[in-house]
Amino acid sequence: FTADRVAAMGSGPLYLRLRRLLEDAIAGGVLGEGEALPTERDIAELTELSRVTVRRAVDDLVKQGRLIRRHGSGTFVAPSVSRVEQSLSLLTSFTEDMARRGLTSRSEWLERIVAAPSPDEMMVLGLSVGDTVSRLERLRIADDVPMAIERASIIGSFLPDPASVTDSLYDALDRRSARPCRATQRISARNVDEREASLLKVATGEAALYIERVSYLPNGRVIEFTRSVYRGDAYDFVAELKIPE
Ligand code: GLP
Repeated sequence: FTADRVAAMGSGPLYLRLRRLLEDAIAGGVLGEGEALPTERDIAELTELSRVTVRRAVDDLVKQGRLIRRHGSGTFVAPSVSRVEQSLSLLTSFTEDMARRGLTSRSEWLERIVAAPSPDEMMVLGLSVGDTVSRLERLRIADDVPMAIERASIIGSFLPDPASVTDSLYDALDRRSARPCRATQRISARNVDEREASLLKVATGEAALYIERVSYLPNGRVIEFTRSVYRGDAYDFVAELKIPE
């Protein structure tokens, strides 16, 4: 990192030029995955920029998920996301999908409550006034990489205590003999808004897959209505196609 290099990064505000320089260093492997960034003070000295300018460029890249700040130990290049192939015809859970690929999944809870159903939950889940839903919103993470935001609504009588879901929702439903056996899924394209971007650690407006799943019990009763936003750079949905009969 030198002042000349920053100057060579075109025109525009200095923090944007430095950001571009850092992006190039990451893309070109000069700064490898997991590698520590020099301290902000060192970068400021080397580039003859102010600490404020350096901080702004680094902050942007942290927000975009390209750098990770670890309190007390510094700033590091984030691991790159490897794309996950997901079958379109198998009814599996996130936990199972990740385990099959050797990835460890975990969730950060955003919401876990019992609530009165909203009009769309009433319609999809076939509920009436006075019924309840268990609402579970989670950021789903695989090997430290945020993959999706999932908002599941389950009919309250099948899952009266949402806190009983600690890891896998489908495991919790299985324990209550209410694991779905069939589902319909609708996938559409979408750009992430500001909240989704900061949770998924991508830039606002990045491409995402919006997925709605409605799943059923063996007796045909609807049990789950889940709306998810999957990172567009992390998922390939794959289907097997047959000639129509
Ligand atoms: C997938 C589906 C969701 C489902 C979830 C259950 O991600 N898109 O509709 O609720 O799996 O996953 P888990 O059992 O790991 O909580």
